[in-house]
Amino acid sequence: MATVLAIETSCDETAVAIVNNRQVLSSIVSSQIAAHQPFGGIVPEVASRQHVEIVNAAIAQALESAHLHWADIDGIAATCAPGLVGALLVGLTTAKTLALLHQKPFIGIHHLEGHIYASYLTAADLQPPFLCLLVSGGHTSLIHVKDCGDYETLGQTRDDAAGEAFDKVARLLNLSYPGGPVIDRLSAQGNPHAFPLPEGQVSLPTGGFHPYDSSFSGLKTAVLRLTQKLQQEHQPLPVNDLAASFQETVAKALTKRAIACARDYGLHTIVVGGGVAANSGLRQHLQTAATAHDLRVLFPPLKFCTDNAAMIACAAADHLERGHTSPLTLGAQSRMAIADVMQLYTSTPANDESTASVGL
Ligand code: KG4
Ligand code: ZN
Repeated sequence: MATVLAIETSCDETAVAIVNNRQVLSSIVSSQIAAHQPFGGIVPEVASRQHVEIVNAAIAQALESAHLHWADIDGIAATCAPGLVGALLVGLTTAKTLALLHQKPFIGIHHLEGHIYASYLTAADLQPPFLCLLVSGGHTSLIHVKDCGDYETLGQTRDDAAGEAFDKVARLLNLSYPGGPVIDRLSAQGNPHAFPLPEGQVSLPTGGFHPYDSSFSGLKTAVLRLTQKLQQEHQPLPVNDLAASFQETVAKALTKRAIACARDYGLHTIVVGGGVAANSGLRQHLQTAATAHDLRVLFPPLKFCTDNAAMIACAAADHLERGHTSPLTLGAQSRMAIADVMQLYTSTPANDESTASVGL
């Protein structure tokens, strides 16, 4: 079973982890939230600079807390797509340099594949096929997981991602960034039925609605109109009720699509991943609906829902076991469909000297 060190720098977390197959030996996550908070969102240049400052110390810490040396590591991985290119390049270049230096195979990982693998870290018996509901700051997707590297996207958002909607609505309610955890906390004190809000359906050209795609921009606009109306009427903003009503609408919309998709495709397990998988409303609605339909639903522990490197290392260990390694010429990509992940791997030995100098 492969022991892999992975680096994750696709967004605003500098993370390094060491995983042996599905077992986490160390996981270091350094959040940049404080650096971005004054701007109300992520500033790409700030993210890249912070990654550069922290990444080497995080690698040393990951090795130290796992009580391992480079000789114990079978492969070195990094997230290479999708994400902020400048931020991705920090982790990717560091991993490729270390792979060359220590003569280890290098494995590039698609960030969303990492989120899928987060559930493997705690569910020892989990095996494909299953459905993954991936809900993060940048993505809202329903992915049919057929095997390692074999993915089909069955549904996605047409506009804002679920986490992005939480962040934008939080800003409308004058709440701090990131919005998801704050809205989640305030919702506990609010009435989820105080304001009926539109779920945001995606129309089909043939009539009716897309069963698996979502749209959150209409919902966000509805919250905006509501806050404007209340402000014009000089009424105090019922923040808790607004937060609870918004969260309820998103949770119900995601649950409806995930259950319909799993049933239509005959998949008995739904795995949830991404930052919004931490949401208590979504957890409650999806768990209740899954039980009613005799489906198994798996939520990773909170620390593996948001960005971390353990999930990247877990995906890389599986690829490495199957002989999938990446050339050192592999570049960072801001966008990449998860269906194309196998393009990241070649049968060429990862430490081929002829490709190494080009890649770095
Ligand atoms: O997966 P993630 O850490 O980063 C991306 O790959 O995007 O997800 C971050 C997103 C943010 O939009 C944040 O507001 C949201 O996850 N989030 C939540 C919760 N915790 C984090 N959204 C709703 N409820 C939460 N408890
Ligand atoms: Zn993520």
